Amino acid sequence: MSAITIGLLGFGTVGKGVYETISKHQGRLQAIFGKEVKVSAILVKNVSKHSVPDDEVLLTDDFQDIIDLPKLDVVIDAIVGREPGYTYLRQAISRGCHVITANKEMFAFHGSELTRLAKENNVSLGFEATVGGGIPIIQTIKQLLNANKIERIEGILNGTSNFILTSMREENLSFEEALKIAQEKGYAEADPKNDIEGYDAFYKAVVLSELVFGKAPAQGKSVREGITDITIEQIRMADSLGLKFKHVASIEREKDTIRCTVKPVLTGEEHPLYRVEGVQNAVSIDADIVGNISLQGPGAGMFPTASAIIEDLIHVGRGDIPSVFEEGRPEGTVIYEPVWIIWGDADKAELPEGCEIISKVSKEVFIFKASLEAVSLLDTSDLKAYQVLGDYAPAAKENKQVQTV
Ligand SMILES: NC(=O)c1ccc[n+]([C@@H]2O[C@H](COP(=O)([O-])OP(=O)(O)OC[C@H]3O[C@@H](n4cnc5c(N)ncnc54)[C@H](OP(=O)(O)O)[C@@H]3O)[C@@H](O)[C@H]2O)c1
Repeated sequence: MSAITIGLLGFGTVGKGVYETISKHQGRLQAIFGKEVKVSAILVKNVSKHSVPDDEVLLTDDFQDIIDLPKLDVVIDAIVGREPGYTYLRQAISRGCHVITANKEMFAFHGSELTRLAKENNVSLGFEATVGGGIPIIQTIKQLLNANKIERIEGILNGTSNFILTSMREENLSFEEALKIAQEKGYAEADPKNDIEGYDAFYKAVVLSELVFGKAPAQGKSVREGITDITIEQIRMADSLGLKFKHVASIEREKDTIRCTVKPVLTGEEHPLYRVEGVQNAVSIDADIVGNISLQGPGAGMFPTASAIIEDLIHVGRGDIPSVFEEGRPEGTVIYEPVWIIWGDADKAELPEGCEIISKVSKEVFIFKASLEAVSLLDTSDLKAYQVLGDYAPAAKENKQVQTV
């Protein structure tokens, strides 16, 4: 029986998950492809750390050994960092191999270049695993875009920061206490900056932006803010208003540019992300024909991520070629004035024009309406503003002690 031969880059959490899935589900894959699916070689940094159950699999620390294999159909990238992954995938594509990557940081920076190169070389490029782990968000968007125009995407794209916010609220913990538990459970790295400061979610948002709107977010329209400033007092106050803090990535077109924010926001119970707790990820898509679609699932981990890669492998086997995504939402439709909760002494602060206080919750907490532009002019040395996503109506929550001014 002929075989689909794979070069696997990386043998850590994701690489091992891919290898085991291919071994365990070989029968299922053969039924789909009509061929054996075989990992021929594995690239690692330190060969002495690893052993592979099958003696026929070449284990190497030299990419040249992989690119020189006499037969190589697919290269799967499960290593870390922008380089050497980008260089390796360029070489693989130039050789005529299909490529699949889980490496979100590399793909956020080089995705459009790799897409162009893959098209030129008539090979497939799979990147389902770069966003939302096991959630099939990339393929869903590809299908949606056939007829729908996507207007906005909001997502909880990092399980670690969502776990911390959930633990703070449910267990009444400080940020530091919740982070320590996340590290003990293996959800957060020893250096958790990528997760809690929003870098990881931002890389994924860039991939979604390129996919949906055909370009990366504009520099001046991008905000990346972490969750480290959120206090247990703010979480309790939000709770008393029927709101939960979530670390949300939002991507939308604004005229000719793409606005992307990754920041802590507040969600009311009608919002699709309100009930997404713990390490779960979720993506909420607003499209013009279908309306809102929300997908939720495991955003990371060995087998959820392997699942996304194997599903990409199926598309590669079927000969799917990457599409070009240039159609976006029609221009000029961003007309909404968000509601914000502000912490600080709003009586003393000079509120920019266009900020309208609608309720006073306590001496230090105000609810008001304002455009994103007006809020960006606030003097944040005394005030902290969090946007409330969705249709939050504070007046309706009379039993929550909201006082209208
Ligand atoms: N973990 C997840 O749940 C998840 C989910 C979605 C996407 N991803 C992405 O998937 C990729 C892999 O993540 P992971 O969690 O599997 O990482 P990991 O456990 O740290 O494993 C990384 C693997 O890559 C190898 N490697 C690193 N740099 C290399 C280099 N320069 N040359 C050759 N091999 C190199 C390492 O070799 P040694 O073992 O010899 O050091 C290791 O086997 C990352 O880009 C990550 O962002 C991960």
